[in-house]
Amino acid sequence: MFRQSLRLARKRNFGLRQLSVPPTPITLLRPYSDNQTIRDSRSPNDPAQTLSQAGSISAVIKEDHRQIEKYHDKIVNSKDHDTQRRYQNAFVWELTRHAIAEELVVYPSIETGLNNGKEIADKDREEHQVTKEQLYKFQNLTPNDSNFIPTLESLMTDLKIHIKQEEERDLVKLEEALRPTRSRDLAQQFEMTKIFTPTRSHPSAPNKPPYETIAGLMTAPLDKLGDIFRAWPDEPGPRPASGGAGR
Ligand SMILES: [Fe+2]
Ligand SMILES: [Fe+2]
Repeated sequence: MFRQSLRLARKRNFGLRQLSVPPTPITLLRPYSDNQTIRDSRSPNDPAQTLSQAGSISAVIKEDHRQIEKYHDKIVNSKDHDTQRRYQNAFVWELTRHAIAEELVVYPSIETGLNNGKEIADKDREEHQVTKEQLYKFQNLTPNDSNFIPTLESLMTDLKIHIKQEEERDLVKLEEALRPTRSRDLAQQFEMTKIFTPTRSHPSAPNKPPYETIAGLMTAPLDKLGDIFRAWPDEPGPRPASGGAGR
């Protein structure tokens, strides 16, 4: 399993061999992943842009966005509560880590690197706060609750607007302001940061560094302990240790 996760990381060009931080244990990586996600994150209409953005901060963020959307679709397209529960855990896991890593790595770069960066980053943080509150509500619901799907759909309606804004405005401007090597460095930082973030929503935690970092360090171990006992989608790839009949 460990070798499998390392192969996956190298395949995604995270450059782990150049980093002084050792590769993470398997239980801390994405619950599962598949090659389809990587393909989905690329624009079929613009292969040249896809190649130029390979390994960039835009590429890794878009890949996460597609994964979050995929988990959402799996939940709403299933009638089976066990399947919904597993994808609910994956959705919360993916979105929580993604949001915090953006706040720690991407938004500070937007803030300092763009002309109206502070305004953009503050708006993004505000939208994250709304999402985290919705996610907190959603993560505590069970699939047999009548509010389960409506809560997810409400969250996703807002999140899709945020994602579109990030992909079509924020990241475009950020890439224009960054050298390609800096963009790839940010992408590595983004992926490494996700290893250490909490994996469940904590809307009361601050969303600006360095306080976010401290809050994350405090809550992340408990979240990760809980992950061991949660149920995960039954798909190949890395995932927390239990991957079975948890909550
Ligand atoms: Fe975001
Ligand atoms: Fe995002």
